[in-house]
Amino acid sequence: MTDAIAQLTERLEGRMPKVALVLGSGLGGLVDEVENAVRIPYGDLPGFPQSGVTGHAGQIVAGDFAGRQVLMLAGRAHYYEHGNAAAMRPALEALAGIGIDKLLLTNAAGSLREEMGPGSVMLITDHINFSGTNPLFGEPTDRRFVGLTEAYDAGLRAAIERAAEVTGIELHKGVYMWFSGPSFETPAEIRMARIMGADAVGMSTVPEVILARFLGLRVAACSVVTNLAAGMTGNELSHEETKDMAPLGGKRLATIFRAMLADEALDG
Ligand code: HPA
Repeated sequence: MTDAIAQLTERLEGRMPKVALVLGSGLGGLVDEVENAVRIPYGDLPGFPQSGVTGHAGQIVAGDFAGRQVLMLAGRAHYYEHGNAAAMRPALEALAGIGIDKLLLTNAAGSLREEMGPGSVMLITDHINFSGTNPLFGEPTDRRFVGLTEAYDAGLRAAIERAAEVTGIELHKGVYMWFSGPSFETPAEIRMARIMGADAVGMSTVPEVILARFLGLRVAACSVVTNLAAGMTGNELSHEETKDMAPLGGKRLATIFRAMLADEALDG
């Protein structure tokens, strides 16, 4: 057992969550809804990232949410912080090691579709890795050849769609394209992304999806749209806008997750 798994197990004090959520921009407030919560700063866990992005605190909050045990990761490492696409690998390995088998990822994204404006929520059905990198670079075993034909788990996607339906929240579906960041895209890159089949663009999530599939976790991911992508309006993009607009879609996505996690069918 690695140190991180041992320490995490000890700090969870008997809690045995099977579901983990990675909270991106706009979802961070969900940690305050966890009951019987234990809070574990990333700094206490070997290998966990020390994220420096404003608006992302680094801690695990585990406890009861929507009638089940969950583990939330508030704060993630982004590739653009250090150029390490595998920065989340130790954290995800620790989650797999304590018995997490479902991973729900969230992010803020720019939309390529006029009708999917700021405040919208998009279920990611597939991705395009346009970063030029991969979190499994350097992995020496044949396990590195991870199949991604069904990276986004059909059962979890169906559960999210059901939850959106019962809560009456419009849920878009689409392809997320990973750009390295941290600069935003150019209008020409957005035109290219559209031709390539992207519906949204962002700077996270894809490395975690690849790592999670490598580790055998079932994965689903949703974007909260904070802006129309570069060149679609007269305005320049900014991180301030991302932070200001993320709570709008974040609230909707939180409602969907509450309903999804309350659904006992998820255990099947
Ligand atoms: N591009 C990349 N990442 C983003 C965007 C965007 O337009 N909005 C929020 N995150």
